[in-house]
Amino acid sequence: MGRFRGQLCLDDFERAARKHLPRPVFGYIAGAAETNSSLNDNRAAFAELGFVPRVLVDVSTRSQETSLFGRTYAAPFGIAPMGITALYAYRGDIVLARAAAAANIPMIMSGSSLIRLEDVAKECKTTWFQAYLPGDVPRITALIERVARAGFETLVITVDSQVAGNRENNVRAGFSTPLRPSLRLAWDGITHPRWLFGTFLRTLLQHGMPHFENNYATRGAPILSASVVRDYSDRGHLTWTHFELIRRVWKGRLVIKGVLDKKDARIAREAGAQGIIVSNHGGRQLDGAVSALRVLPEIVAACPDIPIMMDGGVRRGTDVLKALALGAKFVFLGRPLGYAAAVGGEAGARHAIRLLSDEVYRDMAMLGLTGLEDLGPQWLVRLKSSSLR
Ligand code: GLV
Repeated sequence: MGRFRGQLCLDDFERAARKHLPRPVFGYIAGAAETNSSLNDNRAAFAELGFVPRVLVDVSTRSQETSLFGRTYAAPFGIAPMGITALYAYRGDIVLARAAAAANIPMIMSGSSLIRLEDVAKECKTTWFQAYLPGDVPRITALIERVARAGFETLVITVDSQVAGNRENNVRAGFSTPLRPSLRLAWDGITHPRWLFGTFLRTLLQHGMPHFENNYATRGAPILSASVVRDYSDRGHLTWTHFELIRRVWKGRLVIKGVLDKKDARIAREAGAQGIIVSNHGGRQLDGAVSALRVLPEIVAACPDIPIMMDGGVRRGTDVLKALALGAKFVFLGRPLGYAAAVGGEAGARHAIRLLSDEVYRDMAMLGLTGLEDLGPQWLVRLKSSSLR
């Protein structure tokens, strides 16, 4: 605990990570697309809601346990998929999966990751896997079969990445995949020795050069190379037919992520999605895409019989509770957990999870709530005219 004395809330980890990580690596996590409109709106949407708490309710016994897909989790939040975590935290995906398993919350491993999905599944059986679809049917099928063989039970398909988002900020910060060796990159590394020795060189020595392991059934590009060009799948032609194909091939639980329109939510449910994560990808894809919180109520109304989850902008227990009041069954957070793992490894991620669940628990008391099932829109008012629909 002493080690994280300065980390009193999730945003404190961002400040610490900014110091700890080389500029291009921090820039990859923090950055969004173009003007950051969606990134900023993800926070603004929460700020537009105020609570109307109830008082003199006996809240001496209360619980934030939440059932999702037949399992009872300790809290109503989980870890969103984040790419290349093993570049910023030593064994990042495993560290996050372990921290989540220890806290009994879900963790979604990203397909844009540098540790083989089999290794993460072996460590933590409860981890979910998120895939970006390869561009053709044989490679889609091969990837799905590989995920199933590894033993994952829940597959999340991200559908908002038809093409790569326009991340000018990444270019400006010197980030690319693969990273290109340069004097500037070397300087960025040397001036961040704790990351250089504790994460990057330690990974090189113990596990060799990290590669993109899970975009396809086969290994992809290394994370550092002067010449290798990463094989980005062209996904522009993918349609619901491909989603239906996945539904036929994947026998486990299927969740779709990146839906913002209620019509798409209905189509996804018809096509066999068992859960929906409403998301604008942390503002990293279409700049200006509406934040999940704003469209959440209508998607919940459109698909009342499957769990609707959300991500984007959740930083506080109060944010978790606002999203739940608007009908989310569960929320996910990415960046804050990435920063926590970068700064403090598994212990850092565990501390971050504890901070957030302590906030939820404390806030429930001040809202007059003993359980989360009671929460509804009557706990909220809109503070200023907004586009909340
Ligand atoms: C990966 O999903 C990213 O947004 O960088």
